[in-house]
Amino acid sequence: MKELIDILKRDRNLLPKEFAALINGMTNEDALYLKEQAYKVKEQFFGNKVFTRGLIEFTNYCKNDCYYCGIRRSNVNAVRYRLTLEDILSCCEEGYKLGFRTFVLQGGEDLRYTDEDIEEICCSIKNKYPDCAITLSIGEKSYDSYKRYKEAGADRYLLRHETADEEHYRLLHPDSLSLKERKQCLWNLKELGYQVGTGFMVGSPYQTPQCIAKDLAFIKELEPAMVGIGPFLPHHDTPFKDYPKGSYELTLRLISIIRLMIPNGLIPATTALGTIHPKGREEGISWGANVVMPNLSPVRVRKQYELYDNKICTGDEAAECRFCLERRMLSVGHEIVTARGDFIPYTFEA
Ligand code: SAM
Ligand code: FES
Repeated sequence: MKELIDILKRDRNLLPKEFAALINGMTNEDALYLKEQAYKVKEQFFGNKVFTRGLIEFTNYCKNDCYYCGIRRSNVNAVRYRLTLEDILSCCEEGYKLGFRTFVLQGGEDLRYTDEDIEEICCSIKNKYPDCAITLSIGEKSYDSYKRYKEAGADRYLLRHETADEEHYRLLHPDSLSLKERKQCLWNLKELGYQVGTGFMVGSPYQTPQCIAKDLAFIKELEPAMVGIGPFLPHHDTPFKDYPKGSYELTLRLISIIRLMIPNGLIPATTALGTIHPKGREEGISWGANVVMPNLSPVRVRKQYELYDNKICTGDEAAECRFCLERRMLSVGHEIVTARGDFIPYTFEA
């Protein structure tokens, strides 16, 4: 296994069957070796700096019905909310004071917001805070819509591919959604010049090591700027309520694998990782992550953006969350920086 890890570090890639072997067959000792290598690579590119993004969950209405997600259309128990432009701008105002220079606008696929609305949100944020980056994470849209958002000031886009295996994709989603479409959206976003983020859940129902090997191969092919992964966590009002949560250890190992694949990549220690384990985000950083995304949404709506059970940080004010994370990062020798933290392309030797 150590040999495979060395090859991964050198080539920033492995064959799918090698990825599957690595995922399946690592001992704890191998994993610690992997962690050490990933940490070194991260240090080389980013030192002990961690970038921070202010997350604004602006709507939990969604037209989709993904079987894993707590805000899926069919969940009649979800208490729905939408933030207005004024609400969003006041989150940004507070976030700006706290030092955030990237705002991530995430939401369900809510058709109430037209392209004009999203353009207006982007333009207004950019007008007020020209030194800030805007990341959108609002699902699958047409090429033309993505183009309009970009022209209105959006810089980055997060759209996890969720799984790169066709059969697995069908088991996680209703027929209205397709992996082909999802991937096409990611290619479109890249073509339009966004810094693109993709990712997947670790341990979603029916996932196999082969599925993960395909996820990694797809990530290699796409060459995203950002990769977000977190464990699958069940939500009590979804068809997957009785499935076990994903593995914490495997999520950490995958963070290291992805760090070795994309040394200069932006890899968050996700909220799901912090939910599955009280020290999840700190550990994520120690295994190679370099981004944290504290919540800036108004506390009154926090609990309602419930993708899975027991989500953390739902009762904390933005400032509490920001300083809590600062302390947490310090506890593992890292420092939060307030720079925009754009992806910086790097040419690797052949
Ligand atoms: N609607 C946008 C989209 O589809 O990209 C953004 C919001 S979506 C709720 C954000 C991410 O939450 C998804 O990409 C998915 O990976 C993650 N997620 C949803 N349900 C989850 C669960 N039960 N456990 C862990 N992650 C989950
Ligand atoms: Fe949100 Fe600790 S990061 S309260």
